[in-house]
Amino acid sequence: MNVFYIDDHFVKEDQAMISVNDLGLLRGYGVFDFLRTYNLRPFHLEDHIRRLETSARLLDLPMPRTRRQILDITMKTLSRNDLTEANIRIVITGGVSPDSITPGNSPKLLVMVTPQHPYPEEWYRNGVAVITTCHERYIPGAKSTHYLPAIIALSRARRENAVEAVYTDRYNRILEGTTTNFFAFFGDHLVTPGIAVLPGITRQVVLKLMQNEFDIDIRDIQKNEIPMMDEIFITASNKEILPVVRMDDRTLGDGTPGPRTRWVMKIFAAYTCAYGEGKD
Ligand SMILES: Cc1ncc(COP(=O)(O)O)c(C=O)c1O
Repeated sequence: MNVFYIDDHFVKEDQAMISVNDLGLLRGYGVFDFLRTYNLRPFHLEDHIRRLETSARLLDLPMPRTRRQILDITMKTLSRNDLTEANIRIVITGGVSPDSITPGNSPKLLVMVTPQHPYPEEWYRNGVAVITTCHERYIPGAKSTHYLPAIIALSRARRENAVEAVYTDRYNRILEGTTTNFFAFFGDHLVTPGIAVLPGITRQVVLKLMQNEFDIDIRDIQKNEIPMMDEIFITASNKEILPVVRMDDRTLGDGTPGPRTRWVMKIFAAYTCAYGEGKD
């Protein structure tokens, strides 16, 4: 059984308990970060913990431990699990509140280590469909535990045989997916939105790896630009680089992942492989 860290203890998953009075449960007041390992090395752990700290700050949620302590706790939790490759979820909840709404200065830290479940190989070979949905995330720079619009949008996406819902805002700008960042190729220009999105760690790595490969534009993308897009992909820690071949009713190109996206996937795979071997 998986071993989790909670409240200064390492416990079996089924012993990891949190109070029913926790603001995370009662009010959705909490933040988290999620990452995976390559060859059991947590991918950009320090960047994820830094983002966790930013998320907490944006929500006015005190950090229960320092960044260094969270890093050590995460590594210890990982070592107590006997896995070949892991997903890691670091959660800070609001803790128990005296009146069920005011934070009581007792945030809880949880580190959950679970086995990785790869996504279907055909998603990467054939590409996937996504839908668009109008929604603006509250405090988009924070990875809060509030995913209500995401859960609803994803159910609709599944009903429409899509794997992700991409948010658009009131100005018809394309922002990001429910749990992914959005990229489009216009010819050799690789474009991704720069504002009102979560600063994805995968996005950041892709931008760095691609800086000498393509012209990069970080700019607003309008929904009515979809017909001009040659290729689309979405990025996330768990999905890595996922090619998109249909957006709403529009099929991109010949309906298969394009050469530029396949190049991004190849370079990213080489990077993660080297990362797992301790390089970088
Ligand atoms: C809203 C949102 N955008 C983007 C991402 C991708 O971020 P990362 O690449 O750090 O996993 C996530 C991840 O869950 C997310 O929830």
